[in-house]
Amino acid sequence: MLGRLNHVAIAVPDLAAASAVYRETLGARVTAPQALPEHGVTIVFIDVGNTKIELLEPLGEGSPIAAFLEKNPSGGMHHVCYEVDDILAARDHLKASGARVLGDGTPKTGAHGKPVLFLHPKDFMGTLVELEQA
Ligand code: CO
Repeated sequence: MLGRLNHVAIAVPDLAAASAVYRETLGARVTAPQALPEHGVTIVFIDVGNTKIELLEPLGEGSPIAAFLEKNPSGGMHHVCYEVDDILAARDHLKASGARVLGDGTPKTGAHGKPVLFLHPKDFMGTLVELEQA
């Protein structure tokens, strides 16, 4: 079921400052910021060849990463995203295995315009897992 690692996401309090660190200190190419109001975040991507790094900044009231940044004010690793061939089949398999799918289990459109789901971190060794339709 599990495919390749699509990205590792890092929550940051200041997207412009974090992008500058990746661009200038690490010498990486950083995409333009993209607002995702449905997910309550603004993001950039950094392509590192074998995978991507996603930097997330809160957007609007009640952002899902606001509480995380309260606990980790300087930012931190927020989630990992794996590709799956069939997101609905993956969801049904996970639910049947007792894993908790966040929200109502209906995939939302993610940053790449593809369906995504999030899985409860308590079921995956303390790591929030995103699944993206390959
Ligand atoms: Co993500």
